[in-house]
Amino acid sequence: MERKKPSESLIIMTELVLPNDTNVFGNLMGGRLMYWMDIGAALSATKHSGSPVVTASVDNISFTNPIRLGNVVHIEAKVTRAFNTSMEVHLNVWGEDIIRQHKYKSNEAYYTFVALDPHGKPKPVITAEPQTEYEIKLFEGALRRRQIRLILGGKMKPKDAKELKALFSS
Ligand SMILES: CC(C)(COP(=O)(O)OP(=O)(O)OC[C@H]1O[C@@H](n2cnc3c(N)ncnc32)[C@H](O)[C@@H]1OP(=O)(O)O)[C@@H](O)C(=O)NCCC(=O)NCCS
Repeated sequence: MERKKPSESLIIMTELVLPNDTNVFGNLMGGRLMYWMDIGAALSATKHSGSPVVTASVDNISFTNPIRLGNVVHIEAKVTRAFNTSMEVHLNVWGEDIIRQHKYKSNEAYYTFVALDPHGKPKPVITAEPQTEYEIKLFEGALRRRQIRLILGGKMKPKDAKELKALFSS
């Protein structure tokens, strides 16, 4: 079976926070950051699958630290696990004041993408094979996160969520 390492889907994006990207407090607007994250994650899923992709869902995002006007945004995105036609992408986001050389964590998130064939129908994707301890941890947790988002999206009945049940009963 054809496989790819998560590192092969790595996307690193860098953006500068300009006045038009900020709210009235001079911080990067959440919506603008999510837009950049969506692009970075979609590129990662495209790199893994070799196909065009659409965003199927976005998990909750908690913004730990605001990113200031004039600071730099660093976004890193990698596929954690591929299912049948869908892929989970993990994102890490940092802000950086490059004059003071201070880099700080902004947030983490998971986005799910579906690969499409030339007719716009979901298309099977190749397996993601985790290599590092951290990638294995993300790979293993992906099944549980998938079941949560499918239940919330009305695509799975809670009684069928075996991974989640196992988590609570062990
Ligand atoms: C996402 C989409 C392709 C799913 O198509 P569908 O006809 O419902 O197909 P299926 O039910 O067979 O699901 C296809 C895959 O999507 C996954 N999926 C569907 N809904 C999902 C959700 N809410 N969260 C995560 N994955 C989801 C399924 O689990 C399946 O993955 P798998 O093949 O790996 O098991 C379709 O709903 C779509 O095109 N949505 C709009 C996408 C879009 O416009 N995104 C931008 C938003 S503005």
